[in-house]
Parts: sequence; structure tokens; C-alpha cells
Amino acid sequence: MEIQNKIKELMALRNQARLGGGEKRIEAQHKKGKLTARERIELLLDEGSFEEFDMFVSHRCIDFGLDKQAYLSDGVVTGYGTIDGRLVYIFSQDFTIFGGSLSEMYAEKICKVMDKAMIVGAPLIGINDSGGARIQEGVKSLGGYADIFQRNILASGVVPQISAIFGPCAGGAVYSPALTDFNIMSKDTSYMFVTGPKVVKTVTGEDVTDEELGGASIHATKSGVAHFIAEDEQEGIQLIRKLLSYMPQNNLEDPPVYPCDDPIDRLEDSLNEIIPENPNKPYDVKDVIHATVDYGEFLEVQRLYAPNIITGFAKFNGMPVGIVANQPSYLAGVLDINASRKAARFVRFLDAFNIPIVTLVDVPGFLPGTAQEYGGIIIHGAKLLFAYGEATVPKVTVILRKAYGGAYDVMSSKHLRGDINYAWPMAEIAVMGPKGAIEVLHSKELSAMEDPAKRAEFTKQKEEEYRHKFANPYVAAKYGYLDDVIEPRNSRFRIIRALQMLATKKVSNPPKKHSNIPL
Ligand code: HXC
Repeated sequence: MEIQNKIKELMALRNQARLGGGEKRIEAQHKKGKLTARERIELLLDEGSFEEFDMFVSHRCIDFGLDKQAYLSDGVVTGYGTIDGRLVYIFSQDFTIFGGSLSEMYAEKICKVMDKAMIVGAPLIGINDSGGARIQEGVKSLGGYADIFQRNILASGVVPQISAIFGPCAGGAVYSPALTDFNIMSKDTSYMFVTGPKVVKTVTGEDVTDEELGGASIHATKSGVAHFIAEDEQEGIQLIRKLLSYMPQNNLEDPPVYPCDDPIDRLEDSLNEIIPENPNKPYDVKDVIHATVDYGEFLEVQRLYAPNIITGFAKFNGMPVGIVANQPSYLAGVLDINASRKAARFVRFLDAFNIPIVTLVDVPGFLPGTAQEYGGIIIHGAKLLFAYGEATVPKVTVILRKAYGGAYDVMSSKHLRGDINYAWPMAEIAVMGPKGAIEVLHSKELSAMEDPAKRAEFTKQKEEEYRHKFANPYVAAKYGYLDDVIEPRNSRFRIIRALQMLATKKVSNPPKKHSNIPL
């Protein structure tokens, strides 16, 4: 009987913990169009796989009357489970308890799963929905945040870390997601900012709403903080599952390889026609990606930010890869500050987690102008150069059309340890485009010509000569900077063959504490 009572007590306590801040607050959460912390976990993990830690933890604060107000689990649900049968650790902030605000014990719970993720070598997922530091706990709460940040930093490049923001995330609390690999924000129900609208108004006089200051669309388009914007939480949760499918469990493993019945030698005739006759006409590089990868499936990362460069995940014959591609249909695919930062961070993620990089090049160069120079395009462009040059994963590059100037070097060229570098026959590899080149090379002759018709005729002839000499892939191929010039429709086959050949690639960088990437 005694045992029965003990079990009953356990069940009652469990039920109490599962109710979080109580039914009223759960109802309020639902009314805002949000799920509860536990509902999110249920949706995310494989059915029945969740094991919860620290359900009976509650805070230790006795100030501000909190000794009389305590909840089991203390505002965050933590534990482990599986996604597609693979282990993950998770914490999910519970807004129904003190607005999901972070206390000393709450931080300890998060640190516990982070430590487990590190020693076992499994991804960490954080679902954020919180009013920030628990005001009543003062510096204990601030210390708790820093304990989490420190673990985020040490876990970076060791296990994948993914953050979802499904509610408020303000103040210093933003820095944990910022330290992780990917941020997913739900549309209309989430926001992130370091200082909220009230402080902004006091300091700068600006009138701004939560949404305008730090809503999902702002972070997806303007700041680049959000890698994905989800229509709702359900979509955000499915994105986490999908994203993980491209990743290994940790930096010592390779990504999983999947069965694939999309033929590796599938010819895509459309690719032979995709490059317009006029070299200044755009096309959509995503058409090239879709036509080449397994089943046309491409998970684009930072779709709305710096769309002049495309980054995302796909598979080739079941092997996950990261794709980086210049986008000729947006700003002619030029490299600017934002594009360089976006692609550099993605390349570094891929390299950290042993995911091969496939680079599709069609780039007219770096964007000129004072805005870019004053903004530090030199430093930001160097980030991408650094990331590619440092990367030791298999690197397969295809120059589709233009590869001009420094951008030729940067985009995974042979000289930055590109393993296999191909070009399509339409490729133009040169120090600059014909127009600029002729203006520089023949400036004296051109300024001496008074007749505009004569000048135009001269320019045209010189441009043609230049194009004939440089605007083709064969000069680069002659020097071995390209391994081959390939027929566009055969690209899928050639990329897969290259990736298969490179599967056991081993290269290491010189031993050092860490590099000093230009930040
Ligand atoms: C303690 C908090 C809290 C907090 C909310 N609550 N935030 N309790 N500490 N930081 C409690 C509320 O008292 C309330 O309790 C419940 O959570 C729900 O909050 P509401 O205000 O009723 O909800 P809502 O109207 O949806 O507004 C949510 C909110 C707002 C926008 C997040 O609560 C808010 O502005 N909170 C303060 C945010 C903030 O300034 N945090 C500190 C940021 S600085 P009851 O009992 O009524 O349900 C920071 C520093 C971190 O975080 C530094 C790290 C380095």
C-alpha cells in the first residue's frame, strides 16, 4: 500500500509539472497562436522518444515573494529524444511559468543538456520563448545566461546547434541563438532585439513596434540573424527535422548517406540552353541547382537575405552537400558585403561538419562604390576567401559563366585548394569584363578619338579580340586551373563522380590555436 501511495505521489507530481504555469496560462499561450513548450517537443521528436530531465527542479529565490510561488520544472523543459531515429538533446522554454524567464536553476537545467550533448556528441536544439532574465533573481540570472553562452561557444563546431524562436527573445538572451548555427523564427509570433522599443524611443527617439524592430521578416531580410522564417510553429518544427537530416551528429562523423533512385547519369538537356546568348542577360541559378541535385530538392538557407548569393543543402546520389551559388538574376550575382558574410558563415559550417561544398560560379566581381568600400568590403570579402581557403572538406566547383577578377579566386578556385574545378563551355574567366578591360587598356587611344562612331567601332573590335582571347574556359584549362570543361547537361553525373572520388579525402591545416579570420 505504501508503495502504491508513493507511485501515486509521483504521478501527481508529474501531472503537476506537465501543467507548467497552469491551465489559464496554457490557454493564454494558445490564444496567442503559440504552442506550449511540451507540445513543441512532442511535435519535434519521434513519437514517444522524449525523456525528460529535471522535472522536479524549481527555483531557489526567496526575494520578491517568490518563496511562495514556485513551479515544477521552473520554466524550461529539457531532455533528449530522437529525430528520424537519431539522438538529439533539447530545451524548450515554457512561457507559462514566469514568462519563460531565465533563473539560476533554469540555466542549470539547460547547461546539463548542453554538457550531455557534448560528451555524447549529439545535436542540441533550443526552443526560445522567454521574457529574458528573471528579474527577481538579478545577477544569478545574468550569470546563468553567461554559463549557457560559454557552452554554446565550446559546442560550436563540435555538435550542430539549432535555435527556434517562437516568442519573445530580448536583451542579452538573443546571444545564445546568435552563437548557434541556425536560427528559425516563426512569422508574426516571434521577435528578437537587444533593446526593446521603449528603450529605443528613449535613446534615439524612434517610434518602432516589436515587429518592426525585430520580427521574423526583419531578421530574415535585413539583419540576416534568422536563417529561416516559418509560417507557423509547425512549419518551423518540420524545418528543424529537415535541416538535421543533412548533418552528422558531431564533427567526428560524416553526414548520413541516403538511398537514392534518381539516376546519377540523368542528363538535363535544359542546362545546355540555360545560359543566354547575351552575356549580360540573367537567368535563375536555382534552375541549375534544381535540375542537378537529387529529386530537385533544395533546402535554401537565408533565402531572403543577400539573394545575390544562394546557399543551401541538397543531396547528390544520397550524399548531403552544401551548395553556394552566385545568383545572376539578382544584382548580376555580384559579391557584396552581405553576400560575402552570408556565404562565409555557411562555408564554415559545412567545413566544421564534414559536409562537401559544391560551388556554382557566375560572378561579375565585387560590387564597386563608396558604400561598399566604407562598409569594409575588403574585410568582408576576405571572410569568404578565408572560409574557402581554410575548408578541408571536398570542394567541387563549376564555373557556369562569368568568373571575373578577385571573385574568380574567391569562389572555390583551384588556387584555394578546390579539389575538382569544372567549367561549362560558355565560361568567361578573366581579370575583368571586356568593357572595363578595354577602357583601361586603351584609355589613351580612346580619349584621342573625337568621332564617337569611330570610338564605338574601335571599342567593339577590341572587345571582340579580348573576348576571343579571355572570355572562354580554355586559357584556364590550359594551365590546369580547370580539371575539365564539361557539357552542361552532364553536370549532375560529373559532380557526383567527383564527390564519390573525394569521399575519403583527408587534408589538415597546420596546427594552431585557432586562425584569425578577418571579423
Ligand atoms: C520575471 C517575468 C519576466 C521576467 C515576464 N514575466 N517577463 N517574470 N522576469 N523577465 C512574467 C510576467 O510577470 C507575467 O507573470 C508572465 O511572465 C507573462 O508576462 P506578461 O507580461 O503577462 O506577458 P505578455 O503580455 O505576453 O508580455 C511578454 C513580455 C513582457 C513582452 C516578454 O512580459 C516583458 O516585457 N517582460 C520583461 C522583458 C524584459 O525586459 N526582460 C529583461 C530583458 S534584459 P504572471 O504571473 O502575471 O503570469 C535581459 C538581460 C539578459 O534579459 C542578459 C543576458 C546576458
